[in-house]
Amino acid sequence: MVVTSLMLLVAAGVSGGVALFPTSDVKNDTTPAVVRVMEQVLSTVAYSDYSISFLTDGFTSASTVYKLVDQLRIPGGVGIFEVAGERPEIQLSLVIDHIKRLRELTSHTTVLVISDDPAFLAAFAEWSLKGRLLVWSTRLLAVTRLTLSELHPLHRAFSKSNAMLLIFKDESANIRCNMYVHLPYSPKEAKALKVATWTPRQGLTLTTHLQLFPNKFSKFLHRPTLLAASEVNPFNKIITIQDAKAPGGQRSIYKGPVPELMAYLAKGLNFSYTYVRPPNGFWGAKLSNGSWVGMVGMVKREEVSIGVGPFIFSGQRAEVVDFTVPILIDYWRILGVRGRPTVDPWSFLFPLAPLVWAAILAALVMLPAVVFLMSSCFFPKKEYQENWILVIFGYSRILLQQDILVPVDLWWERVMLAVWMLTTLVLTRSYAGNLMSLLAVRHILEPYQSRRVVLDDPSVTMIWERGSAVGRYLSSVKSGIYREIAEAEKEGRLIWRTHKQFAGDIDTLVRRGDHVLMEVDSGLKAYVSQDFGKTGECSFYESKEEFLPLMFGMIGPKDSPLIPALNKRITSMTEAGLFFQWLKTDEPNSTVCYRAPTKITVKSTLSLTNTWGMFVVIVTGHTFSLLVLCLELLSHQR
Ligand SMILES: *[C@@H]1O[C@H](CO)[C@@H](O)[C@H](O)[C@H]1NC(C)=O
Repeated sequence: MVVTSLMLLVAAGVSGGVALFPTSDVKNDTTPAVVRVMEQVLSTVAYSDYSISFLTDGFTSASTVYKLVDQLRIPGGVGIFEVAGERPEIQLSLVIDHIKRLRELTSHTTVLVISDDPAFLAAFAEWSLKGRLLVWSTRLLAVTRLTLSELHPLHRAFSKSNAMLLIFKDESANIRCNMYVHLPYSPKEAKALKVATWTPRQGLTLTTHLQLFPNKFSKFLHRPTLLAASEVNPFNKIITIQDAKAPGGQRSIYKGPVPELMAYLAKGLNFSYTYVRPPNGFWGAKLSNGSWVGMVGMVKREEVSIGVGPFIFSGQRAEVVDFTVPILIDYWRILGVRGRPTVDPWSFLFPLAPLVWAAILAALVMLPAVVFLMSSCFFPKKEYQENWILVIFGYSRILLQQDILVPVDLWWERVMLAVWMLTTLVLTRSYAGNLMSLLAVRHILEPYQSRRVVLDDPSVTMIWERGSAVGRYLSSVKSGIYREIAEAEKEGRLIWRTHKQFAGDIDTLVRRGDHVLMEVDSGLKAYVSQDFGKTGECSFYESKEEFLPLMFGMIGPKDSPLIPALNKRITSMTEAGLFFQWLKTDEPNSTVCYRAPTKITVKSTLSLTNTWGMFVVIVTGHTFSLLVLCLELLSHQR
């Protein structure tokens, strides 16, 4: 194992004063006691490769620290830092950078701060927050002889980090030490919670059910009230009701899957919460001066502890806040109108594919031609065989299941006819069967299943959301299918509409059939279900193709230990499928039209609108015969 050892002594301006660990020439030596406490505390650290960074304020003698290092036999590496002199702030920020670098090289780091100077400890707490040293995986143990009330300025930093206070009392050779934990989200005046004591005789005793370095965020002990930023969205409906008792005479009720999720988290983590709405209803945008407005800004400035959202993951937001694991992963889809289940008037042509119709016509010409040629070459001509048209007529009669007019007395001709009869039998039977099923089973067209199909059909116009992130993406993209989509605007095949206009557009443009709407799946589901509620039928469909994935999560301040605690609960919630259950109970019709059948069977009489194709055939056929009649009359006269 590589043991990294790094030592940094910054500006040694050591003068006399109270040293926590006096050197051996002082009568009352506490060093052995300290070593034993440390041994016991560190033995509770479950990792075999933990490392320690010592930080002292210059009043602790270096030899004591070395003695400590010698005795403790720290497996994962040791760093020893000393900050002394005039301007501790500047040195502290430097030292914290070094500790962070050391932390990257080692694992399971504990920072051990030894000082009896309240100003030094307070400065350290502040700088370690600023320097992002106190993330949850780094433990902090502050060893001191100060009293709790003198250490009050540490409350903010210690309550939100994995920190413990170890306070020594060595009055008249009676050594005793107490260990304290600052509870998260506790009021400023709240006292730290004593979790353990140590005396030379009794050793280490835990005073509560908590371990040393307890995971105080996994379940809050005192049910703190957290502020949570929240705003209206499809997952989070806010209903304002009149209530005389409430301030302002109004009260807001939160409904939907996200409020259900909040209640679930609050119960799991033992906290209560108050919703705060952002000014102007902004979600979170970065201004040109670098500051953030909206809920993301509120979380960044730590005015609230949770941003409920759910927020779409983005790199820019992740720079200033921490996201939980995704609550939901959603995709964009295409919304189109479903075709009507009507019978096509030309449906009598559909039972056979165009190629089959062509093959039948070809056979009708080829077979009589072969018969005519063969018989005229090898056999003396009979009267009827001179007329080629008559032979074709004979074969056509068989196709239409009629008898043969002229006698066939040669065997090879009979074989030809028999084969043709067999073929026509199969053809006519399959035609009749297919026609029957076509009339009974109706197809509902859902043509636009992918972006490619929409792009390739010049008759359809796309509707995209104006002013959204995806709109900016479309206008900036250089190549690929989104470039093609953006270019469709030049042909007038893309229009931009705001979110508010969507409901109206769906009812007019999309319902007409020549427009499709591009939207996030959960939003489309809401439109489809609202339409189902109004009309009682599934008029719209969502494309099978999904694109532009989106992840939704809650947010918290950077490095907040609340996020891992929330993650654990959110993961078990999504694994159990609870969120989708809440979605379903919120919009009971949301899944009714999901994958609605595109083939339905009907039992109804056929009307003229379904059959006029047949009459067109009769009329054109008879007109044609009339024309032929005229021609024949003309030729007879001549
Ligand atoms: C939750 O907080 C309350 C304080 O309001 C406390 O009495 C209770 O023990 C806590 N529950 C758990 C499981 O810690």
